[in-house]
Amino acid sequence: MADDRQKDDITGVETTGHEWDGIRELNNPLPRWWLYILYASCAFALLYWVLYPSWPGVSDHSKGVLGWTRHATLDAEITAAKAKQSAYVEKIAALPMAEVANDPELLTFANAGGRSAFGLNCAQCHGSGAAGGKGYPNLNDDDWVWGGTLDAIEATIRYGIRSAHPETRQNDMPAFGVDEILTAEQINDVAEHVLALSQSATDPAAAERGAPLFAEQCAACHGERGEGNTELGAPKLSDALWLYGGDKADVVASIAAARRGVMPAWIGRLDDATIKQLALYIHSLGGGE
Ligand code: HEC
Ligand code: HEC
Repeated sequence: MADDRQKDDITGVETTGHEWDGIRELNNPLPRWWLYILYASCAFALLYWVLYPSWPGVSDHSKGVLGWTRHATLDAEITAAKAKQSAYVEKIAALPMAEVANDPELLTFANAGGRSAFGLNCAQCHGSGAAGGKGYPNLNDDDWVWGGTLDAIEATIRYGIRSAHPETRQNDMPAFGVDEILTAEQINDVAEHVLALSQSATDPAAAERGAPLFAEQCAACHGERGEGNTELGAPKLSDALWLYGGDKADVVASIAAARRGVMPAWIGRLDDATIKQLALYIHSLGGGE
């Protein structure tokens, strides 16, 4: 082979001795830039093997002197996020709710926390969008049974309604039919009167007969004109929003048997900061006072 090496006449460069149909290959050196990139790549690869986990073994892999792992990175990120969260949560626990509500950053955090706690603890009764259902109040509107201020909402959540907690919100409407306080006829008349308060009565004569019964038996809780009383948890009867339905049969059933809906107390089950976040979230749904 060495014998075949010749100098190319035109360029003066030595040939490799390979020749195809009279075309000879010149033995030019590799370009410098190309070589440097090759060396740099080799150096980088070596350094990488040393610093980072790289070589697979039988049951494990080389760890690399930096000790870097994806798990460690994730753990660090989670720890940092938790630290940030707990700073928010501590602030929310320490501050009065009105102040939290005035701090846009805290409020955003509280609303997000409230929404997720709502999904876990409340949605099964109040619906995932808090729109409620028969017997379970809609928390999006401004029709409040027990009040829609931040403090009222918080108290409702904390102690519940007719719950087992000693400080529960409690007011039992008499079961006018079951306990024979009113006759069936009287219940019919007072039901017509209740419907007349929201302009949905069908029997004006009965509604008129029901008026004195209402003043006597019902106004103490529901108000003279059925405007309701959030102190007593007595729903407004003069609007078209009904907790237990607004058909004549529903209203008669409410009066005859009383509903006495139960909402559990959350104190002891949820911590303070979570209860506050829930109150802020519900208050923000649109109907907060
Ligand atoms: C087991 C069913 C149930 C669960 C779970 C439940 N609630 Fe209730 N909630 C009710 C009922 C029933 C009422 C209405 C009681 C009444 O006044 O007749 C109510 C009423 C309320 C009210 C008062 C509404 C008003 O108009 O004054 C608020 C606020 C409320 N719930 C928030 C929550 C929050 C927040 C949670 C979750 C932490 C929750 N509820 C979980 C059944 C439930
Ligand atoms: C001691 C207070 C009290 C008295 C008196 C009272 N109520 Fe009620 N009423 C309530 C409470 C509290 C509720 C809330 C529902 C529940 O029990 O869960 C209610 C609910 C109702 C509802 C259902 C409202 C809805 O949105 O579905 C109707 C209707 C009603 N009352 C009618 C009457 C009538 C009519 C009388 C008189 C004959 C009367 N109430 C007397 C406290 C009272």
